[in-house]
Amino acid sequence: MSSEESERRYRRIEDLPGVGPSIANKLRELGFHTVESLAMATIRELVQVGIGKKRAFEIINAARASSSLSFIRADELIEKRQNILKLTTGSKKLDALLGGGIETQAITEFYGEYGSGKSQIAHQLCVNVQLPVERGGLDGGALYIDTENTFRTERISQMAEHMGLDPQEIFKRIILAEAYTSDHQMFLLENADRVIKENNIKLIIIDSLTAHFRSEYIGRESLAERQQKLNQHMHKLIRLARAFNAVAFVTNQVMSSPDVFFGDSIRPIGGHIVAHTSHTRIYLRKAGRGPVRIARLVSSPYLPEGECVFRITENGIEDVEENERR
Ligand code: GTP
Ligand code: MG
Repeated sequence: MSSEESERRYRRIEDLPGVGPSIANKLRELGFHTVESLAMATIRELVQVGIGKKRAFEIINAARASSSLSFIRADELIEKRQNILKLTTGSKKLDALLGGGIETQAITEFYGEYGSGKSQIAHQLCVNVQLPVERGGLDGGALYIDTENTFRTERISQMAEHMGLDPQEIFKRIILAEAYTSDHQMFLLENADRVIKENNIKLIIIDSLTAHFRSEYIGRESLAERQQKLNQHMHKLIRLARAFNAVAFVTNQVMSSPDVFFGDSIRPIGGHIVAHTSHTRIYLRKAGRGPVRIARLVSSPYLPEGECVFRITENGIEDVEENERR
């Protein structure tokens, strides 16, 4: 980096031109604790806490210049895409279905009914993300936003031990946040940028993305508001995943739609908003009573639809032995 370029790099939001202590506080109130997340802010967001339009424009531009996120040449775009990393799920077949693993800088959604294995995969990813890149990890930590009190340290221990890792060390790189309501869930994510930066978080989990929204916004009249909130929430998530080159992994429940007469009537919650904001969607279902699960890639920006099987055992997420196939 040339000295001229390095001069444009700001470490803290207070270092940005035009940001004094009072504006810094306002920015933090909005959940912008880092220059990286501020680079993804909109002028409207800043104006809403009383920062002038012109000032807001200058602050965001300086943050953008500092994190080199604004204009890029096509060859740099290739480089940025090359920065996309892939996180292993623990199953080679499932990784292959996902094009080599779960991508950073995008939202990956796993939906399926109760017990289909969504939270088990989330646990496995918390361990795998800590592996070095050569082993399919991202050499980073995990942030687990838990809405249903699902997270279990015992399960992490089992998975870590199976991989020859020390559970105590693995625990240290998993940050938990329990969300009590949908508003609280949104608040946690809106204020997550500092935790993500300070802990080198490379995996952001929301398990479940939709459960609170579904139970709080009941009836037709509240649907529009629910969808608008979900949209805002998911956009915050994608901005964080891009700013920190992290995986965003969300789980979602299903409902059956009575208006479908042919084919599968099972639909994920969240309608068009969740469908369009998740880049990659996987539908999980059980294959009988045993440990085997079927994963179906339902949508992806560039991968073909397809299916594979894996299993959930004491060890965690694994490939199915050939002779065990359903
Ligand atoms: P909901 O959150 O209820 O929608 O379900 P989910 O999709 O998150 O299901 P989850 O990931 O919690 O999967 C639960 C299933 O994983 C259980 O029914 C078991 O089949 C399996 N499982 C969970 N823990 C263990 C374990 O310690 N050992 C083994 N062998 N299987 C486990
Ligand atoms: Mg679950």
